[in-house]
Amino acid sequence: MDSAHQAPTHIADASKMESEQMKRLGVMTLGAALLLASPAFAAEDTEALAAEARGAVKAFFGNLKGTLVKGLKSGGPAVGVQVCSAAAKGIARNASRQYGGEVGRTSLKVRNPENAPDAWEHLVLQSFDARLAKGEDPKKMEHYEILNDGKTFRYMKAIPTAEKPCLMCHGEKISPEVQKILAEKYPDDKAVGYKAGQIRGAFTLQKALQ
Ligand code: HEC
Repeated sequence: MDSAHQAPTHIADASKMESEQMKRLGVMTLGAALLLASPAFAAEDTEALAAEARGAVKAFFGNLKGTLVKGLKSGGPAVGVQVCSAAAKGIARNASRQYGGEVGRTSLKVRNPENAPDAWEHLVLQSFDARLAKGEDPKKMEHYEILNDGKTFRYMKAIPTAEKPCLMCHGEKISPEVQKILAEKYPDDKAVGYKAGQIRGAFTLQKALQ
């Protein structure tokens, strides 16, 4: 899925091509571009959109983390859960407004059912786990594309599970105090039993293109 971001081999192949072939390819590409009905987005546009999405993720993550850390400091994990649960939606809404699209978090095992993945997100989350299994660093893992309709840009960035503080609320051994409050607020909680290094979920963004 990410072949576009692994350009080096393609470039090497292209440079080996006979010049006659290159010319024919050029004509074909031009023809294909002219046939596209909606505005054709070039690779640079996709890269600019990805850079913008990365900025939005950074701001969103900063706010979430700040809120979580403040909650944990003020009253430990139980208060952390309260604060997180009360603030997560508003923080996502603000981030979305700033981005001019939708900004949120999702996972294959959600705590809040409102964060459940749609079909596209589900596939990308599965591909992230497959990439992790092949040894890729989850900290840098992302996927983005302009959908086939040419009207929507979508971006996802993996969220790795750190030992601290994630495991106290998403790990295998959760204190009874935290378990109790999680059970009250999230009776259908699936986001437990994680180990450090696993992918907890992903940031997910989308934006309509003009
Ligand atoms: C104090 C407890 C607590 C800690 C610590 C914590 N989380 Fe969460 N996490 C929550 C709660 C509560 C929610 C549900 C928020 C909501 O209602 O949207 C959540 C939701 C999430 C979600 C959104 C998807 C879902 O399951 O609904 C992701 C992703 C996530 N957490 C990742 C992490 C990561 C990564 C860490 C460590 C950096 C972490 N969390 C630390 C309590 C915690």
